Amino acid sequence: MTTSLPATVSYLATVCDWYSSHARDLPWRHADATPWSILVSEVMLQQTPVSRVLPAHAAWLRRWPEPAALAAASAADAVRQWDRLGYPRRAVRLHASAVLMTTRYGGHVPATADQLRSLPGVGAYTAAAVASFAFGERQAVLDTNVRRVLARLVIGAARPAPALTVAERQLAERLLPAGGALAARWSVGIMELGALVCTAARPRCDHCPLAGRCAWVRLGRPAAPSRRPAPGYHGSDRHCRGHLLAVLRGAAGPVPAATLEAAWPEAAQRARALGGLIDDGLVTRGADGSLALPGDAERASATS
Ligand code: ADE
Repeated sequence: MTTSLPATVSYLATVCDWYSSHARDLPWRHADATPWSILVSEVMLQQTPVSRVLPAHAAWLRRWPEPAALAAASAADAVRQWDRLGYPRRAVRLHASAVLMTTRYGGHVPATADQLRSLPGVGAYTAAAVASFAFGERQAVLDTNVRRVLARLVIGAARPAPALTVAERQLAERLLPAGGALAARWSVGIMELGALVCTAARPRCDHCPLAGRCAWVRLGRPAAPSRRPAPGYHGSDRHCRGHLLAVLRGAAGPVPAATLEAAWPEAAQRARALGGLIDDGLVTRGADGSLALPGDAERASATS
């Protein structure tokens, strides 16, 4: 489906003006933010709120101010530094990306979305965001906030489809300003509008600079169809994974299997979680059955 836009409608100036006076002052948005700082922020922000990313991002960049510094550390160090940001696979992949940047890209973050996509853990969204925000490549940046704003503004739907559709991408491309720098400003402006005003749960339409031109407001803000509630965390497989990983992070080196059995007695769930952690490259199993963060077993045998 394509949505016809009135030729005269331009949201650009309104969004850019609003952004100038309302945007949060976030370090990865500063004019002197490096591509590495922007890449780290985008990876952290994939599944973690800004308030928790802020201190973690600062600490990460203090410790590893450029990709080569992280590449020289171990993946275990990266997982420990990641601490409790959640989805720790991102730390292992960021470490692998840093290694690739030093071997293939002269220690620099690659500058195009196509090259960025070749880095572990960098999907379409992150590649577009870094190419746009760090390098000014003209890319549509479609995170959940942007998708929700466009769904409401143009389509009149309370929320977008569960997965990105071709029609949504086409719409985003049509709205994207011509120049790379302006496109980046537009994207971050729409993103911020979605984060601060056009929120999922309690949109503040009375504070929205686009309310007078919003299809969803015009339709009387119809509710979204209800969704099944997300499964609970306590006692879940994710909880088990997170708990086992916390034990390994807290240990100086490999941990006997018995320690993890004591930490999470439910055997089938523990085996499932450990299998997943090993498959994801977050944990290694030694010949003696001990378990370790990646690189820790090698380090322990080198120092013993
Ligand atoms: N600014 C740039 N990218 C962002 C993101 N992913 N979330 C919040 N603010 C951002």
